[in-house]
Amino acid sequence: MSAESICAPCCSRFSIPSEAPSLRAPQGREQRLPYDHVLKGASDAHHVGPCDERDVRVSISLAHEGDGRPRPRGFRSVRPSHGLIRRSPVKTVMLTGGTGRLGQRVLPLLLAQGFRVRAFSRRPGMPAPGLTWIQGDLCSPSAVRQALAGADTLLHLATQPLQAGADVALARPLLQALPNSDIQHAIYMSITGLERMQTAPYYREKLDIERRFEDSGVPLTLQRSTQFHEFVMQLVQRLTVSRVTLMPPGVTLQPVEARAVAHHLAQLTVGEPAGRVRDLAGPETATLEHLAREWHLQQGRRPALLEVPLPVPLFRAWKHQAAVSPEAQVVGQSWASWLGDAAPEDVRAMRT
Ligand SMILES: NC(=O)c1ccc[n+]([C@@H]2O[C@H](COP(=O)([O-])OP(=O)(O)OC[C@H]3O[C@@H](n4cnc5c(N)ncnc54)[C@H](OP(=O)(O)O)[C@@H]3O)[C@@H](O)[C@H]2O)c1
Repeated sequence: MSAESICAPCCSRFSIPSEAPSLRAPQGREQRLPYDHVLKGASDAHHVGPCDERDVRVSISLAHEGDGRPRPRGFRSVRPSHGLIRRSPVKTVMLTGGTGRLGQRVLPLLLAQGFRVRAFSRRPGMPAPGLTWIQGDLCSPSAVRQALAGADTLLHLATQPLQAGADVALARPLLQALPNSDIQHAIYMSITGLERMQTAPYYREKLDIERRFEDSGVPLTLQRSTQFHEFVMQLVQRLTVSRVTLMPPGVTLQPVEARAVAHHLAQLTVGEPAGRVRDLAGPETATLEHLAREWHLQQGRRPALLEVPLPVPLFRAWKHQAAVSPEAQVVGQSWASWLGDAAPEDVRAMRT
């Protein structure tokens, strides 16, 4: 018999192992018995001490009553009883970028999977059981060392795309601290097509950081994806002035739902380090113009677009389908159906 239970205060989820816990008999003797012989079920689990301790108490009742099977000696009056199980340790994930587009979506998935999460950011987010917000700047080596202490997994999502050199500055203290930390699995989130888009400083930095993680010797999973729907929507909004959207020519994207990428990251966090895994992309490749038109239509107005060759490194980098990946694993909804489903608060935020 096996059972799964959750510690109410911290939401840690664990399976009761097939071996019985040691049950304390009335005489004070400890005995270990197989579950299928002894236990009807295990429930009401909670940590014995603070929630980061490994010992968990489970309520247990005996299965023998009235079932005609012989009772194990010494357990006659132990009903219901309690057992201590030494569960396999709950993993602690140090998450950077937990307040960002992707991080906000990954965070609840990690907690639902029973991880303890330390979310490190300059602005703390909402509290939740199993979650500790660490307010700090990733550029600070001492803050990073403290935040990493005792964590098993690093999920690095923090980024500052608008500030030149910032992403390398954010990654450097992490990379310096990793060799002396307990981190057994680092996951780095990156972007499809970096090698083809090196005209943009941000993409040069991302490629540089990927290589630094690969050279760090820490067991690594490297996930890339195309641009998120959420990001494209903000971009189109920023390009819209008095309801006219300025349109850089020749830009093609294959945007993906951040929620779908978040699901993949949560699965990768459970798994073993996998090196560079298959890119993720949305189901549709389209010009930015097409995406902007659909956004206008979804807002209930005639699209008004004005082609302007804007001198922005990102737009130059996205030409010639460089941001698109036919080999990527397709996940999530198309742009059009995502726009239709977008949460009302997202739509409101995007209204111009
Ligand atoms: N956006 C896209 O379309 C896209 C596509 C593919 C891959 N990616 C990658 O996915 C990852 C997440 O992107 P995103 O769009 O979710 O990012 P985002 O929304 O811009 O969020 C950035 C996050 O980084 C944190 N951060 C920035 N500077 C920091 C600092 N000095 N110290 C601590 N935290 C800091 C921010 O937290 P605070 O401001 O609260 O400190 C925020 O949580 C990035 O690696 C990005 O390159 C993004």
